[in-house]
Amino acid sequence: MSRSKTERLDRLLSNLGYGSRKDVGYWIKEGLISVDDQLAKSVSQKVTAESVRLEGEPLDHPDGLTLIYHKPRGSVCSHKEMGLLIYADFPERWGDRKPPLSSVGRLDKETSGLLILTDDGHLNHHLTSPKHHISKTYAVRLDSPLSGNEQEIFSSGRLMLEGDEKPCLPAEMTVSGEKEALLVLHEGRYHQVRRMFAAVGNHVTTLTRTHIGALSLDEAALAPGEYQTIESEALIARVSPK
Ligand code: URA
Repeated sequence: MSRSKTERLDRLLSNLGYGSRKDVGYWIKEGLISVDDQLAKSVSQKVTAESVRLEGEPLDHPDGLTLIYHKPRGSVCSHKEMGLLIYADFPERWGDRKPPLSSVGRLDKETSGLLILTDDGHLNHHLTSPKHHISKTYAVRLDSPLSGNEQEIFSSGRLMLEGDEKPCLPAEMTVSGEKEALLVLHEGRYHQVRRMFAAVGNHVTTLTRTHIGALSLDEAALAPGEYQTIESEALIARVSPK
């Protein structure tokens, strides 16, 4: 999406989640919409997003939306799962945007930490494609003490998880306590961290994603449930391997 693109006023506002095309007609009659400081005349008027004001306000992220978000423990990333959706943390209007805001991969319900969301399908694909080797780091707290052989097993490239057809790619583990570790993954399988520790006879009690590439939850300084917008280029630069 670019700032210079022109499109129908009703389409623009409905795709940004403001309301239906019918609502836009109503707002024009009420004199609530201006285009280049003149009252809007028609729903079919061709406009650029930057020229439009609704009740005197510029439009909300008309050029697309990309966020970094601190997912709290207890919410779910997908409409298909039961439970409170992460989308409850964002303005309600964003739920009606087209294209929709989607998470880049998922964190499971009991996992907290860094999550990227975007309405840019190409960016989403770039960030999830194995071709771009974007690592993810998890802080893990375990039920039982580490036994000492986990680093070797996880880095071997031979660990098979139940139900999978291929072994896990080598992953780097650093011990940070008797029952604590950091694990860097280079792929994203279903409940991968929990399943990797289950495969070595342990149980993950607390799981937090601390980094995506070099982007860290600490530097973002977001409390659980908080988010900030970020430009795609800056995000790609931060998460891509050097
Ligand atoms: N591994 C998990 O087990 N859960 C996640 O949410 C992410 C990685």
